Amino acid sequence: MSAVSQNRATVQPFELLLKEDQIAQRVAELGAKITSDYAAETPILIGVLKGCVVFLADLMRQINLPMEVEFISAASYRRGLKQEAETIFSGGVEVEIKGRHLLLVEGVVDTARTVTTIMEKLAKEEPASLEIVTLLDKPGSHRSKVRLKYKGFTIGNDFVIGYGLDNTQRYRNLPFVGRMIER
Ligand code: IMP
Ligand code: MG
Repeated sequence: MSAVSQNRATVQPFELLLKEDQIAQRVAELGAKITSDYAAETPILIGVLKGCVVFLADLMRQINLPMEVEFISAASYRRGLKQEAETIFSGGVEVEIKGRHLLLVEGVVDTARTVTTIMEKLAKEEPASLEIVTLLDKPGSHRSKVRLKYKGFTIGNDFVIGYGLDNTQRYRNLPFVGRMIER
């Protein structure tokens, strides 16, 4: 292989958007805020799989309170980076959530359809409180009004990967957030 084609083979289809230490610092701030807002409570963090996994794992270790973790599965399928996704929900929270303080934890809020749908389902169970925690928010893509009480970073409409977020199931293991580049 020539030097040029070797170089081409290692070119990545994304560019760096948020560095590891930048994310860690913001996650620590969110954890501290949640710790003070929920002092004397035992909140339940409800992670939206699979994009929440890395964020949730880091965030929960920054929350200095008794707390519980549950998961909901939402898979969004899109044929291309820009196509509207179809969301399929599965699983559900098995524990009693009536009267509990719930924090829905998402990796990224795009159209806000996923979090809105899950919030509506959870609200029916009469929790004491219900808020959203998202690492990333794309306000330019929202299709409905949504209250994001805890937000890591506001980003543009570009498709991002890493730190739990995928493009067709890949790149979740990247420790930073990258922006996909259409070549
Ligand atoms: P929403 O329902 O449009 O808000 O989309 C939320 C879901 O779509 C997230 O849970 C992700 O699975 C996926 N998604 C939206 N934007 C991105 C992105 O930029 N990168 C990776 N996944 C995304
Ligand atoms: Mg995805």
